[in-house]
Amino acid sequence: KVYNVILSGGVGSRLWPLSRKQHPKQFLKLFSGKSLFELTAERNENVVDELMVVGNTDHIEWSTQLLKDIALPQTFIVETAARNTAAAIAFAALAVDTDDVLIITPSDHLIQNQDAYEKALKEAIDLAKQDFVVTFGVVPSKPETGYGYIEYEGKDVLSFREKPNTETAQEFLERGTFLWNSGMFCFKAGVLLDELKLYQPEVYEQCVATWEKSENKHLNAEASFQIPSISIDYAVMERSKRIKVVPAHFRWNDLGSFESLYDYLRTNGHAVDDNGNMIIGTDIFTAFVGMKNCILVHTVDAIMILQKEKSQDVKKIYNQLEKYK
Ligand code: GDD
Ligand code: MG
Repeated sequence: KVYNVILSGGVGSRLWPLSRKQHPKQFLKLFSGKSLFELTAERNENVVDELMVVGNTDHIEWSTQLLKDIALPQTFIVETAARNTAAAIAFAALAVDTDDVLIITPSDHLIQNQDAYEKALKEAIDLAKQDFVVTFGVVPSKPETGYGYIEYEGKDVLSFREKPNTETAQEFLERGTFLWNSGMFCFKAGVLLDELKLYQPEVYEQCVATWEKSENKHLNAEASFQIPSISIDYAVMERSKRIKVVPAHFRWNDLGSFESLYDYLRTNGHAVDDNGNMIIGTDIFTAFVGMKNCILVHTVDAIMILQKEKSQDVKKIYNQLEKYK
């Protein structure tokens, strides 16, 4: 069987104050009345046999509601604490047969050109059936530090580097032999678990222990706190020798930060002033004096003014907040 595993446990803290702890960005109906979460499920509907959502207990009802028109069997793995993507993916793998193929997708990307997308997925499924760990590579356009970089030769992956600093990212861009990691993956459940066991035995063992103590796919909270919090990129992708990359010939936007949201909105006609400043969330007359490439975000209870290039730092503000999370 082929599953689409939708990872939906992140808050999207780099999009604060638009996204909130109780209202993560994947559920914001920003795109012609639909959320990124719904769009994710819809785009995989024709390719897979089942859907599996891994997400927080607070949002399971919400997710169920949003997926009610999707005519595929659906499973929910319920977290009380987010332990990062290595753990979330391990639970999905533990929930199915070792030979089942998982297509892991974030819940917060915007993808266009459905035909090319489905073609890439089919190619990935074929490679996964041959026991490879498959990534999807996007041609980079700037020295973005929020992504993983895949050094490649054809479909082979020479190295994987998660979130390099600006200097290194610039170097990768100039060398021209790197792709961005799209954040989607495809592999057999058993293959992923073997790789995790090999490179992160502690994560693997604590995930198995948590899984054994869980009921009805509701993860045992106490046990899950023992799992080291690490992303799949650092845990497995930077180390695995079984990685392949399928080129993404579809349009891909990670709306992970205000910089990428800005680029997306700008190309879709959202106003910017002569100095590249943008206002999100209000029609109140706003003037930027002596400022360039700034973004003002307005919500009912919070305002943020941001230098576009500092978009990755919003996470730091979020992490310091108490009341306004
Ligand atoms: N269920 C669950 N539990 N989901 C989680 C958790 C968790 O603990 N943590 C994160 N997620 C979900 C997020 O909601 C998102 O959909 C996805 O997993 C990826 O997490 P991000 O936090 O958005 O990762 P990232 O953007 O920093 O980096 C990843 O994506 C980039 C492309 O967008 C990496 O794979 C990079 O290499 C990649 O370039
Ligand atoms: Mg992301």
